Amino acid sequence: MKKHIYLIGFMGTGKSTVSKELKKLLGWEEVEMDEEIARSCGMSIPEIFETYGEAYFREQETACIVSISKTDSSIVSCGGGAVLREENVKLMKESGQIILLTARPDTVYHRVKHGKDRPLLKDRMSISGISQLMEQRSGVYEKSCDKMVSTDGKTPLEIAQEIAEKL
Ligand code: S3P
Repeated sequence: MKKHIYLIGFMGTGKSTVSKELKKLLGWEEVEMDEEIARSCGMSIPEIFETYGEAYFREQETACIVSISKTDSSIVSCGGGAVLREENVKLMKESGQIILLTARPDTVYHRVKHGKDRPLLKDRMSISGISQLMEQRSGVYEKSCDKMVSTDGKTPLEIAQEIAEKL
């Protein structure tokens, strides 16, 4: 069985866009965790947060990783908080490799500023708000990953090629 490629990283680091490029390069299946969760709950990510709260969303995230980890190789575009639970990281490590995408706070801000689909950025939509949350999470991201790729100033194709070379 080939292993999964889990793309992790802060919101706006390009996980979804890059995973589509990687899919073209490698010809593997691609799974978008947030899309899977929204489909299985029958509502959007902001609606899940609003209706059931973040803890419920994290449960759905773990359930999604459990089921992905049992399937054959795929490129998995993870939600930005997927590695916040150790049990998730353990499952991911057992079933694949974890690639961290990074970006500077100002890069993230410019990528996400017009989006309305990220509940955790609703009250943090500024470079300093993003920087603060990124700072809180950077240790977990770095500890969880096998390899790291910076995305600042690069095209999705360039990032995907860099990842493919590191596999
Ligand atoms: C989250 C990131 C989002 C989504 C949810 C929570 C996070 O995914 O899963 O809003 O905790 O960082 P993206 O990283 O794809 O935006």
